[in-house]
Amino acid sequence: MAEKVRIKLTVNGVVHGSEVEPRLLLVHYLREHLGLTGTHVGCDTSQCGACTVHVDGQAVKSCTMFAVQADGASVTTIEGLGSPGHLHPVQEGFWEMHGLQCGFCTPGMIMAAADLLNKNPNPSEAEIRHALEGNLCRCTGYHNIIRAVQYAAGKMAQRSAADD
Ligand code: FES
Ligand code: FES
Repeated sequence: MAEKVRIKLTVNGVVHGSEVEPRLLLVHYLREHLGLTGTHVGCDTSQCGACTVHVDGQAVKSCTMFAVQADGASVTTIEGLGSPGHLHPVQEGFWEMHGLQCGFCTPGMIMAAADLLNKNPNPSEAEIRHALEGNLCRCTGYHNIIRAVQYAAGKMAQRSAADD
């Protein structure tokens, strides 16, 4: 068995120190070591986006990264994006616009969409489709997913206007 490596990273604001095998993927670390099973594994080969999380503020497919590569990083998973009483606008958008069917792709879609809106608060429909093209929905509910992201963009614009 490979020698374990000590890593320390922040996940959803909590610092975790762990001993992991060098080959352990970040997605498996999150799910199996930390119990954060909202991050899904749809393919393990970087195709589906179900495993998308934020690493230091950037959307990353967590099956494409080893846990040791996240040493020192700050990771946000779907569990850390909002809370039941205080949903992130993208979560609210998926709820309001029925942006999910079985829900399997939803955490990854939401994390990818949140990353898009952080970088581009007012994306066109084409820009939303482009940003989410690495995320597959097997239920093919793409139209409502786009509407959910548009809803979230509108909500975020309203909030920032209210803050001004
Ligand atoms: S599980 Fe990571 S892209 Fe599919
Ligand atoms: S809602 Fe079922 S895979 Fe997207």
